[in-house]
Amino acid sequence: MKAPAITLKAFTRRRERLMHAIGGDAIAVIPAATESLRNRDVEYPFRQDSDFLYLTGFPEPDAVAVLMPGREAGEYVLFCRDRDPDMETWNGRRAGPDGAVADYGADCAFPIGDIGEILPGLMENRRALCAPFGHTEAMDQRLFGWVKQVRAKARSGVRAPTEFVALEHHLHEQRLFKQADELRMMRHAARISGQAHVRAMQACRPGMAEFEIEAELLHEFRRYGTEPAYHSIVGGGENGCILHYVENRSRLKAGDMLLIDAGCEHGGYASDITRSFPVSGRFAPAQREVHELVLEAQAAAIAKAVPGNHWNDPHDAAVGVLTRGLKSLGILKGRPADLIRKEAYKPYYMHRTGHWLGLDVHDVGDYRIGEAWRLLEPGMAMTVEPGLYFGPQAKAPKRFRGIGIRIEDDVAVTREGNEVLTDACPKTVDEIEACMAAGGMDRAGAA
Ligand code: GLY
Ligand code: MN
Ligand code: MN
Repeated sequence: MKAPAITLKAFTRRRERLMHAIGGDAIAVIPAATESLRNRDVEYPFRQDSDFLYLTGFPEPDAVAVLMPGREAGEYVLFCRDRDPDMETWNGRRAGPDGAVADYGADCAFPIGDIGEILPGLMENRRALCAPFGHTEAMDQRLFGWVKQVRAKARSGVRAPTEFVALEHHLHEQRLFKQADELRMMRHAARISGQAHVRAMQACRPGMAEFEIEAELLHEFRRYGTEPAYHSIVGGGENGCILHYVENRSRLKAGDMLLIDAGCEHGGYASDITRSFPVSGRFAPAQREVHELVLEAQAAAIAKAVPGNHWNDPHDAAVGVLTRGLKSLGILKGRPADLIRKEAYKPYYMHRTGHWLGLDVHDVGDYRIGEAWRLLEPGMAMTVEPGLYFGPQAKAPKRFRGIGIRIEDDVAVTREGNEVLTDACPKTVDEIEACMAAGGMDRAGAA
């Protein structure tokens, strides 16, 4: 499978768009992520900051990108770790300032150790400073320290920035709208994640541990060089009713459902899929009824994820179907309109129907403009993920208890309507049963 990539040219265009938005007399400062300690001498796997990644494609920690619209000596300056043969022998290769220019499109680059001497000079006579204020205290302190250094030169006629603009104000609106190359990245991640769910369905047998199924997912992610976009949720039986269940330690029981919420990221672009299927390969009647109801709610929500509708329309559609369904299953009683108004569905459906999706799984972008839900537009990408959860204490007939079902797909709003990026992953009762049967079923008698 050929993996798509974001070209240097595309990164340049992104920086140009941001520079246009912040204005010609502003300067933007965007720090990379820092490494963080897991335990003594061991770091968590490094994940680049999404804003920094979006603008630079530069994969290393300890870097700061600076954008200066109109600067003749170069609008894009990158501070990064210097080359260091010793450190590179221990900890891996570094691009160094020369590599930052040659391979990552920086106009000029300097060692990160020199930033304190160089950056205040770059801020001189720029009216506005645009940066991720309020994210880390360390960065805030450094930013304002540099501004103070510029102010100290006021008597020599130098002006320091007087306006401080949150980077996300401009950048997150830009990131919300996915370009064609970004959608190619997301499609790729979605396809691999879909295959991972198929692998999990086909490997699943009663008696296996949840972590064994998690291993199948990771195998599929890693064989294409992708990473998990978040910790995989693999919850058998009532564990499927714990929304952020990540222990993945229990044994799978014949007759139970298994809920898997797992997705990989490619080049930082996330996918986010949930499927729920019977451990034994065949849905019991109560499981089938709930699954079909959630699927109907999802279809109604996806149909609403089209341009011109507002952000909340898919959620409202899902809530409508689920509420009427809970009534016909005999779990809720009353008029659907009243039940919806009183949020009677909430004990069984307590989360929202989706979130923006992109470089962050819960991606950036405002959900409201002022008080009103924002309108959906082509280029926005989101998840659609209704569910129903009947924990062991649920007020519901016994046959439903222990069933947790969520169905989650990734949807890009297009000019014509939408595209379901995760469409290849089996979803209906028949598709799931056929997929599991094709996995070589020796789950006989297990249901
Ligand atoms: N996997 C996290 C979510 O579904 O929001
Ligand atoms: Mn999600
Ligand atoms: Mn999810």
